[in-house]
Amino acid sequence: MKHAFSLALLLAAAAGAAVAAPPQPDYHPSMGDLMTMAVQPRHTKLSLAGQAHNWTYAAYETDELRHAFDRIAKTIPVYRDNDIAGAAQQNMKAPLDALDAAIKARNPAAFTLAYGRVTKGCNACHQNLSHPEVVIKSPAAGAYPDQDFRPRAGK
Ligand code: HEC
Repeated sequence: MKHAFSLALLLAAAAGAAVAAPPQPDYHPSMGDLMTMAVQPRHTKLSLAGQAHNWTYAAYETDELRHAFDRIAKTIPVYRDNDIAGAAQQNMKAPLDALDAAIKARNPAAFTLAYGRVTKGCNACHQNLSHPEVVIKSPAAGAYPDQDFRPRAGK
């Protein structure tokens, strides 16, 4: 089968015809990939949105972060014998609920407190899941120079 496929590709190439792309392999991102892609940037952006008092965007991004954990738990249900849905629930649910409440109240002080709880939750999970070397903190500076975090007029 494989040979026949390669031969067909060769013949097609030789004839100058468009070459069909080979089937794509399934992509299986690791936990570190998912953290880097789906979690860490959102944690940073949430801080920037809070500093800008952009509550509409902060609410959106909190929701994105919450659902990112749901998707991660579906993608990697068990990590080194740990139930990821349970670990995410234990470390993230209450802090994210507090963040949502602060955003609804448009309260910067409550936002900062709740954001600190979220960050603590990140680190608690890293410690419990044998990665204490991954230490998260509130970002000292904005890392997204191409995104405007200021609220839109009237929002
Ligand atoms: C459910 C547990 C859990 C929660 C909650 C969690 N993490 Fe992670 N995180 C992990 C695990 C496990 C790893 C190690 C993955 C690996 O490399 O095998 C990790 C790794 C990371 C890494 C390192 C990736 C790299 O390549 O540098 C970053 C950054 C990270 N997490 C950010 C965060 C942030 C930010 C939060 C909070 C918003 C968070 N994580 C919450 C479990 C969690």
